[in-house]
Amino acid sequence: MPNVKLHVDGTIVEQEVKENANLVVLAGIRQFPKLKYGCGMGRCTKCTCQVIEGAEGLAPPNWKEEKMLGDKVKENYRLACQMTITQDIVLSQENLSIEPIKKQPSTTA
Ligand code: FES
Repeated sequence: MPNVKLHVDGTIVEQEVKENANLVVLAGIRQFPKLKYGCGMGRCTKCTCQVIEGAEGLAPPNWKEEKMLGDKVKENYRLACQMTITQDIVLSQENLSIEPIKKQPSTTA
């Protein structure tokens, strides 16, 4: 089973997860503590993390990650809700140089 290390809030959460696990799904059912997340659908960027080790084992960023993170995907920034874990990985949600995108005001006429 893949081992996940997450640096967050000055601590490290380390846990084994099932292959092809989604960390936001696990966090939603209280099986992965401390992960920051929001919508679970690639829209809010609250689950943004930087891959410190193990990026080579991930599928390439999908269109939602590219749309929401822009050039940051080249610095191994990913949306945890859009990733499946297939091998050992080290992630960080500390000191990210990207802020969650603010909700755009409605433009209804
Ligand atoms: S939880 Fe909202 S983008 Fe991942």
